Amino acid sequence: MTGTLPRESATFDRGVIAEIQRAAETGIYDIRGWGAKRRLPHFDDLLFLGASMSRYPLEGYRERCDTDVVLGDRHAKHPLHLDIPITIAGMSFGALSGQAKEALGRGAGAMGTSTTTGDGGMTPEERGQSKMLVYQYLPSRYGMNPDDLRQADAIEIVLGQGAKPGGGGMLLGQKITERVAGMRTLPQGIDQRSACRHPDWTGPDDLAIKILELREITQWEKPIYIKVGASRTYYDVKLAVKAGADVVVVDGMQGGTAATQEVFIEHVGIPTLAAIPQAAQALQELGVHRQVQLVVSGGIRTGADVAKAMALGADAVAIGTAALIALGDNSPRYAAEYAALGSAAGSYDDFQEGRDPAGITTQDPELAARLDPVEGGRRLANYLRVLTMEAQTLARACGKSHLRNLEPEDLVALTVEASAMARVPLAGTSWIPGAVG
Ligand SMILES: Cc1cc2nc3c(=O)[nH]c(=O)nc-3n(C[C@H](O)[C@H](O)[C@H](O)COP(=O)(O)O)c2cc1C
Repeated sequence: MTGTLPRESATFDRGVIAEIQRAAETGIYDIRGWGAKRRLPHFDDLLFLGASMSRYPLEGYRERCDTDVVLGDRHAKHPLHLDIPITIAGMSFGALSGQAKEALGRGAGAMGTSTTTGDGGMTPEERGQSKMLVYQYLPSRYGMNPDDLRQADAIEIVLGQGAKPGGGGMLLGQKITERVAGMRTLPQGIDQRSACRHPDWTGPDDLAIKILELREITQWEKPIYIKVGASRTYYDVKLAVKAGADVVVVDGMQGGTAATQEVFIEHVGIPTLAAIPQAAQALQELGVHRQVQLVVSGGIRTGADVAKAMALGADAVAIGTAALIALGDNSPRYAAEYAALGSAAGSYDDFQEGRDPAGITTQDPELAARLDPVEGGRRLANYLRVLTMEAQTLARACGKSHLRNLEPEDLVALTVEASAMARVPLAGTSWIPGAVG
């Protein structure tokens, strides 16, 4: 004892003790939404080297800094032309309300970017309101419908997610309403666990055949993405390219999920920062960097994150959690209801419970009706606009007339860990731990 307060153990801190007590009480593991919450090396550990004498900055109001990107022009007849390199990640109808899906489509469409379906199929509301909609082809096949696939603008074959590489998601019974059950061909009100791997292929050779099949039923029109959770990223990206992907999506361990075991979220995968250079290296070695586009997700919050991901080699990013917060989750008028759920506006992570006061991660008709899709879309568009302007500000400061011209040379790291993972020098040195030559 020192003084009057018991000394807290770093190993058995209050959170650990509470979790042991909870587990002992209930006998069930903890399930939650959101991504990894532990502190990990992240974009905040990198800084841009603004231009001065050796580089020439661009004037903020007078000189252009373009933001457009084309995704999927390797094989597809109709690649996606996005005005901004920030897309909306796949989030399922089921995890999200119909209103939330519609709001995502509206916000993305207003900013000339794409949104994505999820583990649960395509709703008419989101197809109707999304200018460019990517259709997820998932291990579970929930909601899989060839007619919807043909209505999509691109197809994303999901092999894994950053929050749970090697695992499947969960949707608890309270969210499986008649409509959700109907779309997934599942019984109503019973907990559902998504598959962790596709039922009809076992490796990259079979995947190449599956991609050809998808190209044929869509007349080679639609780009085909492959999404992987970040783990053995260098090899996974190489195999995805060999299998024929037009776009590779790499989702780091900070990436959000609708519901998974906490132990999975916090202990499997690698940080987004560590995954991007591995993915870029794989694409460069195959001679297809910028031809097979790299989309990165997992913990993107600000325009600085967008610019840093692009400087490390991404062509675009995808956002999930931040888009939900932007839709209206942080509305103070529901503060008392969040408090009653043991949470707070903007930090609500019990997506699986289906009791979201802001109507976003719920299937309860009364709660869902609280989210106005038009207002939600407006808020999301505003947020995307701010991200874009922030990224442009940083790019101009580095003398770049297009976001895509950002490069690793523009960055330094604040910590040894971030330097080794991002493969950029520690600030004030030319040292990259682990770099050869
Ligand atoms: C509520 C919610 C539902 C999700 N549903 C899916 C899904 O159906 N399919 C999928 O591939 N990823 C799903 N994800 C993961 C996102 O596509 C994306 O990889 C992740 O959210 C990116 O990280 P971020 O949340 O930090 O932006 C979901 C994420 C959230 C937050």
